[in-house]
Amino acid sequence: MPFPFTLTATEGRARTGVLTTPRGDIRTPAFMPVGTAATVKAMSVDQVKATGADIILGNTYHLMLRPGPERMERLGGLHAFMGWDKPILTDSGGFQVMSLAGISKVKEEAVTFSSHIDGSKHILSPERSIEIQADRIGADISMQLDECVAWPAEEPRARAAMELSARWAARSKAAFGTRETQGLFGIQQGSTFENLRRESSERLIDIGFDGYAIGGLAVGEGHQAMCEVLDYAPDMLPADRPRYLMGVGKPVDLVEAVWRGVDMFDCVLPTRAGRHGQAWTWDGPINLKNARFAEDRTPLDPTIDCPASSQTSKAYLHHLIRADEILGKTLLSWHNIAFYQAVTAAMREAIAHGRFEAWRKDFHARHVSN
Ligand code: GUN
Repeated sequence: MPFPFTLTATEGRARTGVLTTPRGDIRTPAFMPVGTAATVKAMSVDQVKATGADIILGNTYHLMLRPGPERMERLGGLHAFMGWDKPILTDSGGFQVMSLAGISKVKEEAVTFSSHIDGSKHILSPERSIEIQADRIGADISMQLDECVAWPAEEPRARAAMELSARWAARSKAAFGTRETQGLFGIQQGSTFENLRRESSERLIDIGFDGYAIGGLAVGEGHQAMCEVLDYAPDMLPADRPRYLMGVGKPVDLVEAVWRGVDMFDCVLPTRAGRHGQAWTWDGPINLKNARFAEDRTPLDPTIDCPASSQTSKAYLHHLIRADEILGKTLLSWHNIAFYQAVTAAMREAIAHGRFEAWRKDFHARHVSN
């Protein structure tokens, strides 16, 4: 039985709804803070919860290297280990192998790679990835193992990766079987080729998944090219299942993707950039390191309900970041995650009231022009 996904309103191609899981509801459009190594970096689980996040993301690649899947299982799985009782989605590992591991080799059977931590050799097959995600980590939503090509890609290379991903999709599904309390998402690939994305979608739909991700974007193609793919890619996926755009993005990317029919997102940007002093506001991003904030007594954004946004001054945040204080990283990560949750909440509200088109225009006018 797949998780129930109820669309409560649509406006054009934009949708709002609820994905119901045994560990709680995920209100869509949803942004998943990234908790790569069993922590949303610099934040406690209570702080993450306070932002309104319904679900976080974990990474198979990192957790299989440290603390290791079998140890994770002995410790009760990721929820118990990190003290997060709401849903967790895990990425399958292939994408992180490509971007982080030392020498890696993709073959039909599996990907082999050396750890970026100690150089040790590891093998990740579709079956092993599912075992780690669903059985050892205990993810509520597991992702199929896939191959994401770098951008730009020639069509034959993009086709080969899409076809391998489709075969791995079938193996992932067979390994996952049918489960009552856990779900499995397939991943559409095909780079910037519409015909490849269509074929990928058809093969995934034939196999049948609880949700469908759009992979292979935000790999350097830029906002415009990504939007061009999103003009067609979400519509190729079933309307009655959640659509998840992987690794995206800036607030403006989220808005444009929701406009084109995407429901779920994850990205390291709010936490990673936050640790380096960048904060997102309704008027666009600012960098607190900038000298112009040294004596700015105003809060980052009094409309966002978190101490970083409303109870401290920009001058204080400027000082903490300049002094490389740990609290600065926590407060700005917290603010950015709270801001992303505010953006997705505002989109849910706007779509529910048929005001998303006007809201999007206002968002652009304020956020992008500044
Ligand atoms: N994260 C960002 N993009 C991707 C992708 O294409 N595949 C996977 N598995 N994870 C991603």
